[in-house]
Amino acid sequence: AGAYAFYGTHQAGIVTPAQDRLHFAAFDMSPGSSRDDLIELLKDWTVASAAMTAGRDIGDFGAAGGPYDAPPEDTGEALGLPASGLTITVGFGPTLFQATDGTDRFGLAHNRPAELTTLPHFPGDLLEEARSGGDLCIQACANDPQVAVHAIRNLSRIAFGRAAIRWSQLGFGRTSSTSTSQATARNLFGFKDGTANVMAEEPGAAAEHVWVQPGEGPAWLAGGSYLVARRIRMTIETWDRSILSEQEAVIGRTKGEGAPLSGGTEFTEPDFALAGRSGPLIGPHAHMRLAHPDQNHGIRLLRRGYNFVDGNDELGRLAAGLFFISFQRSPEQFITVQQNLAGHDALNEYIRHVGSALFAVPPGVRPGSFLGAPLFA
Ligand code: HEM
Repeated sequence: AGAYAFYGTHQAGIVTPAQDRLHFAAFDMSPGSSRDDLIELLKDWTVASAAMTAGRDIGDFGAAGGPYDAPPEDTGEALGLPASGLTITVGFGPTLFQATDGTDRFGLAHNRPAELTTLPHFPGDLLEEARSGGDLCIQACANDPQVAVHAIRNLSRIAFGRAAIRWSQLGFGRTSSTSTSQATARNLFGFKDGTANVMAEEPGAAAEHVWVQPGEGPAWLAGGSYLVARRIRMTIETWDRSILSEQEAVIGRTKGEGAPLSGGTEFTEPDFALAGRSGPLIGPHAHMRLAHPDQNHGIRLLRRGYNFVDGNDELGRLAAGLFFISFQRSPEQFITVQQNLAGHDALNEYIRHVGSALFAVPPGVRPGSFLGAPLFA
């Protein structure tokens, strides 16, 4: 698709078919900034996001039409490029409602959803503070990396003096399908990722698993969602030396087709029975078994992650991994699945969670209103 509507019941970039590129940024509000600064910032982000997602440059004069004695309003690198399926999705972190020292900087503490807290520590977590948390987040997805980067660059420029980037992540090669019209992409372990996902076409699935329902939390969040971001380093070099049968056993699916090891093709339902069967089985520690709804009280997540390679580390290993993003109606969904995985997943030998964040994603914006407006009503 060329352009997705910015305004709507829900924010775009969640059930929107996953685009190819990501620029994700977490922001902290600047010291001394006020509730009014926050509201003005969200209003400015709204106007700019509506323009950019429609393929326009921002401001009254844009990138090249303004006065010679002022910096251009738009940085200009997306001039001439189409909207490229850009979506901008904004979320609010726990610290926006209550800072780590307990202060309520923006008069929002009474509006904090009870579930919006720092995620619990999971076994094996090696989280870096500098890659975790944040008062606000923006997920910019597009089919052209220049368009996604332009969006984050201009939104952080608009934030100058009010909020600054705390950490950010570029991603490529969506690791999930969120629509049955999409072929399943592969993660950097070479496996199809997103086969068993919450798909846009499943009737009722988004309401059941993704959107916060009225009455479930504070009224301002109805029609919104929770975004979990986990920066997961992959020890690619170790993985690449492991034999094919080990790789398939770890995931629980075949590498080529992505079929469950219990047989069939990609979309065949897995058979988890271990007794009385011959041939390759889905072992007790296979990732897909432990992540499957059958093992998690029926819980499902809408996964929308991206691959990343941030150059290499000091030992010459690729700084590669999966920037895992999931959307869910309650953080409890992620916590339940991740608890299961952190304790038992065979994949843990090859991955390391190094960044973590949770955000409440407000519902979509009505024309004339602004991002998160019900929170300030
Ligand atoms: C399924 C890879 C981390 C949740 C899968 C599949 C692969 C995969 C290849 C099978 C295909 C599919 O259905 O998409 C990975 C890799 C990870 C990772 C390489 C880390 C680098 C996570 C995390 C979670 C998660 C952190 C959530 C806590 C799921 C779920 C499924 C799944 C819910 C679908 C299970 C089913 O219903 O069959 N993953 N995954 N994954 N993964 Fe992951």
